[in-house]
Amino acid sequence: MISIDPLTQQERDNYKFMIGSIIPRPIAWVTTQTASGIVNAAPFSYFNIVTSNPPMISVSVQRRNGAMKDTARNAEASGELVVHIPNEHNVRQMNQTAASLGPEASEVEYTGLTLVPSSKVGVPGLAEASIRMECVVEQILPLGGTGDGPGCDLIIGRVVQFHIADELYDAAGHVDAEKLRPVSRLAGTSYAKLGDIFALERP
Ligand SMILES: Cc1cc2nc3c(=O)[nH]c(=O)nc-3n(C[C@H](O)[C@H](O)[C@H](O)COP(=O)(O)O)c2cc1C
Repeated sequence: MISIDPLTQQERDNYKFMIGSIIPRPIAWVTTQTASGIVNAAPFSYFNIVTSNPPMISVSVQRRNGAMKDTARNAEASGELVVHIPNEHNVRQMNQTAASLGPEASEVEYTGLTLVPSSKVGVPGLAEASIRMECVVEQILPLGGTGDGPGCDLIIGRVVQFHIADELYDAAGHVDAEKLRPVSRLAGTSYAKLGDIFALERP
């Protein structure tokens, strides 16, 4: 076994260790909106469920040289975001929305995505996604950093509306994983599709 004290190595090496080990990571494809109405879209794989009581998700947005990314800044200012689950059909468009455009440029226009109005928040969603969750900001926690300000903004979003394509949802309220065809993030430029699905009874 190799043992590593994270304090003895560079942030980049800790990053590589974590994104290589904590896999596969689900991806939140997030839309937010500026006060002037520009819709921003970007993917984030530091993403998970916080609780279902009431439904909350977390998205950790890293700072760039101490500066908040557009997603965190817009979410903080507007108090809203929409989280989408990307799939095999739209993963290339999702990747394009990771382009670093300025705050006044829209990744949605840049990638030719289609906006769909939300029902409970002002931020529109992406019609290309088969699952979307309209969220209001519950909390944004600035965390970490090495002296020059926080390292990230942890957004906790409370889901106020779910949307799911008919064919993915059954009468008992189950989401069909095979039909969803979700994609997950590994390290570097690698992604993964769903592998073999198997069941285990709980002890
Ligand atoms: C699949 C994927 C996952 C990503 N995950 C994260 C993440 O979890 N946190 C983060 O800060 N950036 C992540 N990025 C990079 C952001 O998407 C990228 O910095 C983007 O430009 C941020 O957009 P914004 O400035 O419009 O908010 C990811 C990129 C890709 C392609």
